[in-house]
Amino acid sequence: MKKTIADHAARFSEAAADYDDEQNSEEYEACAGLVIRRAGPAGSDTVLDLGTGTGAIALALADEAGQVVGRDVSEGMLEQARGKAADRGTENVEFGYGEFRDPGYDGDAQIVTSNFALHHLADEEKREAIETWAGLDGGTTPSRSDSVGPRRIVLGDVMFFGEPDPEEPFYSPEVDDPATVGTLVDYFTDAGYAVTQVDRVHDQVGVITAERVVSGGRES
Ligand SMILES: C[S@@+](CC[C@H](N)C(=O)[O-])C[C@H]1O[C@@H](n2cnc3c(N)ncnc32)[C@H](O)[C@@H]1O
Repeated sequence: MKKTIADHAARFSEAAADYDDEQNSEEYEACAGLVIRRAGPAGSDTVLDLGTGTGAIALALADEAGQVVGRDVSEGMLEQARGKAADRGTENVEFGYGEFRDPGYDGDAQIVTSNFALHHLADEEKREAIETWAGLDGGTTPSRSDSVGPRRIVLGDVMFFGEPDPEEPFYSPEVDDPATVGTLVDYFTDAGYAVTQVDRVHDQVGVITAERVVSGGRES
């Protein structure tokens, strides 16, 4: 991590009031849209959205999911997210403090999402984060009695499809620490997930969809 968690939290809290207005790139929109689409929760699912920011993903998924839990380290961003939920009258979403490797949530979650946020961690820290998500209580389903791991994790983020290029958008080496797509795919695979889709939004932005592998076959 190139900055501490407190540094990132302070940086985002300072920018929180203007954050939404500044997310106007085609790639950000495409990435967020794909995360929402790939997450595809059922009405009974709980979605845990990490690095939730002002709630772009969490609030969009609240329309489809049973419950959405948004976690972030920036109180300023969380404040914006709570304000938006209140303005919209969205009641099945809850926002609170949580870090990628310690989400501060001990309920079950069938789906985990994260958009444009994990690249703040160093690669080994990303591995720990993905292992943490894989170890969450995924709840039980009619076809599955164990509760190990959410059935789907969708990660949209800055990630390298080719050589890192700080001259290109989305990668500022002084604050960002993105991984290659291959590294992230390995982390999901090692954590017991099958990567079922990789969407390339830009050479430095993509969406990885991973599904829990269960003994005797993959959960559908
Ligand atoms: C670029 S914003 C993305 C927000 C939102 N997901 C979106 O799509 O608009 C990155 C967010 O990650 C949060 N963040 C940074 N480091 C974090 C960490 N270690 N754990 C949880 N959230 C973190 C920041 O506070 C910020 O709100």
